[in-house]
Amino acid sequence: MIKEYAPEPLTDFSKEENKRAFEQALELVKSQFGKEYPLIINGERIFTEKKIVSYNPSKKDEVVGVVSKATQELADRAIKEAAEVFEEWKNWAPDARARLLFKAAAIMRRRKHEMSATMVYEAGKSWVEADADTAEAIDFMEYYGRQMIRLGGSMPVTPIPGETNDNYYIPLGVGIIIPPWNFPLAILTGMTTGAVVAGNTVILKPASATPVIAAKFMEIMEEAGMPKGVINFLPGSGGEVGDFLVEHPLTRFISFTGSKEVGLRIFQKASQIAPGQKWIKRVVAEMGGKDAVLVHKDADLEAAAQAIVVSAFGYQGQKCSAGSRAIIHKDVYDVVLEKVVEKTKALKKGNPEDGSVFLGPVVDKNAFDNINRYIEIGKNEARLVLGGNSDDSVGYFIEPTIFADVDSRAVIGQEEIFGPVLSVIKAEDIDDGIRIFNDTEYGLTGSLFAKDRAIIERCRKELHCGNLYFNRKSTGAIVGAHPFGGFNMSGTDSKTGSEDYLLLFMQAKSISEVL
Ligand code: NAD
Ligand code: ALA
Repeated sequence: MIKEYAPEPLTDFSKEENKRAFEQALELVKSQFGKEYPLIINGERIFTEKKIVSYNPSKKDEVVGVVSKATQELADRAIKEAAEVFEEWKNWAPDARARLLFKAAAIMRRRKHEMSATMVYEAGKSWVEADADTAEAIDFMEYYGRQMIRLGGSMPVTPIPGETNDNYYIPLGVGIIIPPWNFPLAILTGMTTGAVVAGNTVILKPASATPVIAAKFMEIMEEAGMPKGVINFLPGSGGEVGDFLVEHPLTRFISFTGSKEVGLRIFQKASQIAPGQKWIKRVVAEMGGKDAVLVHKDADLEAAAQAIVVSAFGYQGQKCSAGSRAIIHKDVYDVVLEKVVEKTKALKKGNPEDGSVFLGPVVDKNAFDNINRYIEIGKNEARLVLGGNSDDSVGYFIEPTIFADVDSRAVIGQEEIFGPVLSVIKAEDIDDGIRIFNDTEYGLTGSLFAKDRAIIERCRKELHCGNLYFNRKSTGAIVGAHPFGGFNMSGTDSKTGSEDYLLLFMQAKSISEVL
């Protein structure tokens, strides 16, 4: 008997025993620093000469781990072997595949703090952010396991006299899983286990900034009893191995989450038919955002300011769902801006190894340089009201930065910065606010703070984004409760954590027999 899905509870770090347990997990992870992790192809552990070194962004010279780096030859072998294993794995009963996910979820729950502590060191996450990341990974496995059981038999069809009719969902084949570094466990786990529980075999190419947490995910999958070759672990360079995997004729689908630039490149490359290819590759591409928190003049201004700060600066603004724009009605603009600045000043900054830190480093040197470039652009485009400085002498730290009086069409009002930079934009009225909210090529998340029912109902229709929230922050979707995915250049709106998600990795087979 499988109990109903319920989201994994978050850890209450105000309790002394939880704090102590997390500190022990940090010690454990520290004792593993420098460990080498192999590639895994069809169950074989392969140590290559070339490595990806994973550094702690809070202490940029500290090596969290070293992971073997794939070549194109190894990628070719991985796809061919995954294609062979698919012929067996697709015949596993859906509920047996689901049970494997439940087992893996149980193991991850037992290693919960270790997984989160790894992300504190490898991704620069605060305790709370890391804990939520691990909880979401567990949720994905619990949720997708149950969804596969639901979808495992013949689906309802209209009865026709004299016939017996069925409609089954069957898997696609070999998939390439390309996750980002910013939810290095949750998104990776959801993308990988969703595809696998549906009966596909996969090549998992983790993001180069966070390969150690990915290697630990593989340990859990192996311990849970995932058959060899169902998940093949292939860290490698996006340009070299990523392109090769996407272009391979045996690749049946690509599941990508990351930037718009890379997502569109994959979409284009996957549309080219390679010699010997027998299918149209399916592409799921979840990409960036330029999300907004819109504040109407009648809103609870204290709550709105709090939500703006958390949406903009949670995990240093490195979320696709980050509320990187605050659009505020002119009548309350000054007061909300002042509250946002005061609350941001109060955020504790530093190395997130300390559990009281809210704002840690950005993920690496590339991110540091790119965000600083946007801050310089912002200084010429708008009024800097807070921050603007950074320091990479020890780790990649950037002050939370607020620009006011931003023009919606300015570079910092349009482009995804993916860092702790907030653009505050003044709206003349609610019409103007809605116009500015939608004035972006993206359409991922967004929030409205308002009390007027008519305005809330209007915005329900007119604010164009995949995840719309009223009177709360723009981040923190819960698996099963807030199906996640965006419109326009935010991607294919795959709605992770929804009843529809697994269908992206299956095809329906309709069978009719005359009686
Ligand atoms: P990225 O596009 O740089 O990298 C994503 C993945 O693609 C990584 O694993 C990378 O190694 C790989 N890659 C790079 N070049 C490749 C190529 N040529 N072929 C195949 N794979 C390649 O993104 P990132 O910096 O890891 O993540 C940040 C971005 O992800 C932001 O834009 C953010 O908004 C987006 N994101 C979106 C969602 C969502 O659900 N919409 C969730 C999280 C992050
Ligand atoms: N799913 C993540 C959020 O909602 C990106 O913040």
